[in-house]
Amino acid sequence: MSKLAQSHAWRALAAHQKRIAAASLRELFAADASRAGRFSLETDGLLLDYSKHRIDAETMRLLRELAVQAQVPAWIARMFAGDPVNNTEGRAALHVALRSDRAAFPESGDVMPAVRASRELMRRFVDEAQRGALRGADGRPITDIVNIGIGGSDLGPRMLARALRKFRKPGPRLHFVANTDPADLDAALAGLAPGTTFFIVASKSFTTAETLDNAARARAWLEATLGKSAGLSRHFAAVTANAAGAAALGVPPDRVFPMWDWVGGRYSVWSAVGLPVALTAGMDAFEELLEGARAMDEHFRTAPIERNMPVVLALLEIWYVNFFGAGSRAVIPYSEDLRDFPAYLQQLEMESNGKRVDRDGNEVDYDTAPVVWGAAGTPSQHAFHQLLHQGTHLIPVDFVVIGHDGESSGAREALAANALAQSSALAFGDPAPGAPHKALPGNRPSSTLLLKRLTPRALGGLIALYEHKVFVEGAIWNLNSFDQWGVEHSKNLARALLPGLLEGGKAAELDPSTGLLLARMRERD
Ligand code: F6P
Repeated sequence: MSKLAQSHAWRALAAHQKRIAAASLRELFAADASRAGRFSLETDGLLLDYSKHRIDAETMRLLRELAVQAQVPAWIARMFAGDPVNNTEGRAALHVALRSDRAAFPESGDVMPAVRASRELMRRFVDEAQRGALRGADGRPITDIVNIGIGGSDLGPRMLARALRKFRKPGPRLHFVANTDPADLDAALAGLAPGTTFFIVASKSFTTAETLDNAARARAWLEATLGKSAGLSRHFAAVTANAAGAAALGVPPDRVFPMWDWVGGRYSVWSAVGLPVALTAGMDAFEELLEGARAMDEHFRTAPIERNMPVVLALLEIWYVNFFGAGSRAVIPYSEDLRDFPAYLQQLEMESNGKRVDRDGNEVDYDTAPVVWGAAGTPSQHAFHQLLHQGTHLIPVDFVVIGHDGESSGAREALAANALAQSSALAFGDPAPGAPHKALPGNRPSSTLLLKRLTPRALGGLIALYEHKVFVEGAIWNLNSFDQWGVEHSKNLARALLPGLLEGGKAAELDPSTGLLLARMRERD
């Protein structure tokens, strides 16, 4: 048995769970008049209400003990010092440096001059683009910018560019392309003019097949109209840690924005990977985003465990995954602008902690990251809330709700009323006497994160909150949250399979099922 599963805190939580499982949220609220206040936290305008969870003071005391036992404060200090916490790749995970105003990170040297220089380069580029000074091969101002990237080089900027669309500044329109299916690029380019279209190729490694294929297609699209001139390079910028790769695509060196091996792809939106965000809302808004994240970093670094928002969220996740057997968590932002937030969190949480081997190379005997899924409310209510309310699975929910933004249109209030109604119905149910098919059992847990307004600063705090939550879970589950070896094998397999699908090609040795499918796909009619 693993050390974790044998530990005192773990066993105490397992015993305590039996008592809590027998209590309802109605009873827990009735027993403690101050429950809502006791189980809520606020930092930098972000309120977390976690009172609708199946916990009491003793649960939180035991969960705190678990965090202490796993040396969470020491792990936090190590990450902020720039220690190589990514042990399988021997690297630091210094995304906090990207939004820092500190001088140095003792274990990683002074990365700040490079970070500041990159931000300056971003500011100049954004300024150029927004005042119409970014010009293509024939001298016309650029009107459209297409971000080509995938995973961390797509999900963060895409989600934030949408979330901040209300703050849009005059300048080129933004488009996003991720899928290797040419339909994605084709749809983005429909109606665009090659002479006034610009591409940002975002890839930390500059070896990702989808991104390189789309970049090559983009280049061919430009060439078809503008010809093979040297001026084509004026239509490209790159964000990468592989400057040579960008040069091979013909990106001019002064348009290559740096990335570093100490930033993981899914933690990189704070770097020049966030260019589309700055191009949407302006560089000042991007700096405000960084400030919001920095405020959350400070909270995470200094707040005591029991009042530390990322730690509390992580402990609640562990409580349900490991002691109630929950296999998934839903994320439901009540905001069209935040519609892409669940997809962003999927990569952050599942790529980071979807692992079954611990830091010491041993297979774990406890569950790790749950499936993260969700969609924007209120449409989600008419899709999957039935299962949340009356289904057989225990699915904790994170509701993200935006407070009043000053104008009373009735619509904002309706949105908020729906969000609050959902969390209340999940928690307290509805007995519907005599009509069991109508009864809502309640006792279904949720967190509510209330952002006063959807500003760049608030978003910075929200994202950093989840980044740190993931880190704390990794510390307790004894995982390296910063590698993603599971993704690598199938990338190589796709490479080996491709020749078998191409005319006259021969595939690598295949399992019978894959062989059958491949043979059928080779049939041309
Ligand atoms: O999906 C695997 C992955 O390595 C992610 O971690 C990363 O965000 C994505 O591919 C894209 O990688 P790159 O930025 O190097 O193209």
